[in-house]
Amino acid sequence: MQFDDAALALRDPLIDKVLISSGDIQKRIQQLGTEISRDYADRQPILVCILKGAFVFLSDLSRCISIHHEVDFMAISSYHGGTESTGVVKIEKDLKSNITDRDVLIVEDIVDTGLTLNHLLQLLETRSPRSLRICSLLDKASRRIEQVPVDYRGFEIPDEFVIGYGLDYDEKYRNLPFIGVLKP
Ligand code: IMP
Ligand code: MG
Repeated sequence: MQFDDAALALRDPLIDKVLISSGDIQKRIQQLGTEISRDYADRQPILVCILKGAFVFLSDLSRCISIHHEVDFMAISSYHGGTESTGVVKIEKDLKSNITDRDVLIVEDIVDTGLTLNHLLQLLETRSPRSLRICSLLDKASRRIEQVPVDYRGFEIPDEFVIGYGLDYDEKYRNLPFIGVLKP
């Protein structure tokens, strides 16, 4: 299916602009899939999708990976101190898989301050995976408070609140096929 991103964006008066088109997202995911397939060639990694935001990315990424792999899901929520995330995460839904001695690739929608992912990495490390890496579609690197190693990065983006392609504002806009910016 061919989406007309600009036309879709224009239909919603709250959307300011298209930041990354659906075509550009798909092209980049193809590249990431090729890279991941090569890096894990003799492995069977578990792709851990962080719900809810990463569900769209995971489904496209998985179909661009040519080697055998498993998928599992985890839902976490951050405790908020003021407006910023504190990075202390609560597991709302844990993995089904035992990740001990397995190659684990965390699939995230966006890394912002890095606090959430930093906490999650520490938590998953206690389960002794064989390897633990991060794949994030978006990276707001300028906002980083806690350094986290983003092994596979789709796009680096400026400090703007983005929506679409799984990312929400008040649980809305996850269904947009592109990454957009809301009007201020
Ligand atoms: P942090 O890296 O701990 O600051 O938190 C990252 C999480 O905040 C992401 O997984 C998203 O759920 C959310 N988030 C950060 N920036 C945005 C954005 O621009 N749009 C939507 N959600 C965002
Ligand atoms: Mg998230």
